[in-house]
Amino acid sequence: MLSDTNVVIDLDALKHNAAVVGRCAPNSRIMAVIKADAYGHGMVMVAKALSNVDGYAVAQLNEALTLRKAGIKKTILVLTGFGCSDDISVFSKNNLDAVVHSDYQLDLLACVSPQQPLSVWLKINTGMNRLGVEPLCVTRINNALALSADVRQPIKLMTHLACADDMTSTATQEQIAVFDESIDGMTGEQSICNSAGLLGWKYAQRDWVRPGLMLYGASPFFDRKASDDDLKPVMTFNSRVIALRSVKKSEKVGYGGCWVAEKTSLIATVGAGYGDGYPRHAVTGTPVLIGGQRVPLVGRVSMDSINVDASQCKNIKVGDTVTLWGEGLPIDEVAQMSETISYELMCGITGRVSRVVKGAINGE
Ligand SMILES: Cc1ncc(COP(=O)(O)O)c(C=O)c1O
Repeated sequence: MLSDTNVVIDLDALKHNAAVVGRCAPNSRIMAVIKADAYGHGMVMVAKALSNVDGYAVAQLNEALTLRKAGIKKTILVLTGFGCSDDISVFSKNNLDAVVHSDYQLDLLACVSPQQPLSVWLKINTGMNRLGVEPLCVTRINNALALSADVRQPIKLMTHLACADDMTSTATQEQIAVFDESIDGMTGEQSICNSAGLLGWKYAQRDWVRPGLMLYGASPFFDRKASDDDLKPVMTFNSRVIALRSVKKSEKVGYGGCWVAEKTSLIATVGAGYGDGYPRHAVTGTPVLIGGQRVPLVGRVSMDSINVDASQCKNIKVGDTVTLWGEGLPIDEVAQMSETISYELMCGITGRVSRVVKGAINGE
């Protein structure tokens, strides 16, 4: 039996969004970013459902090993690469691709001889200042990797965009120019774009694109709706009405008594709170859907419940389904009302929330 609060993962929507990626970047191979449990959607299931992509990217070695154990045979790129010499033999044994982003890793590679040469993606810091080798070091490191018998040739070349979601910023063009300059004359395959990059900066699509968020049906742009790019929500977060009460004018609702009724109001208490992954900082007015109608959150979010003003809902009753985000209610909207991003909301669904899968993993 389903608990009152669940997330529905719509695999048909996931496949639809992957097809959108394919249409938007027809000349690139697709590396689906499925780290952090596929942004909370279920990593192994998502990998299996996305059978048409060309590879997968995860953040950590243990995520990659989970995928290999589940029988995933395609390219798996570990975005942080290896962190110690023992890792290198694990990469080699499991045929995992590694990002090399530092001299530290180059030194590690020089000290070991893995059974099979490693597939390496050299990551260049073009302005994000997170992971990546400095542009001036690229030729030196590329030459060292090119000479290594432990590295498969040619190595691939990548960078990551910091501001691709802002179409008015000049930062993305600058990053792309730095990338192009620093790899001048190198023949390896290239990868620059995350979701915002591939949608907004098409000339940067190159050999591989690395979409994450758009696969899950949210918009990477703060000023664009997911539906503007034909993306469909994959995750729908549902709960139920667990109590109804009428409050009179001037009565307060919730912790701190922060919300005060301006008139007699029907308050519906919904059985999900921050203990389930609903954002604690959602403000009064954040919408939920009840019977297809948008209803505003009132007062503070509790651990196990929220309160909404359901005065406009005719025939509402205890047990009615409440959609917190997903189909009919874009997650981006809830994120904006909660001073966060849809990435964080997706990743934040907690273990006590049950999961329902809609659509088949293998079906088209
Ligand atoms: C290196 C790298 N590439 C691609 C992505 C995917 O980004 P997005 O989810 O915005 O498409 C990420 C996500 O953080 C990343 O770290």
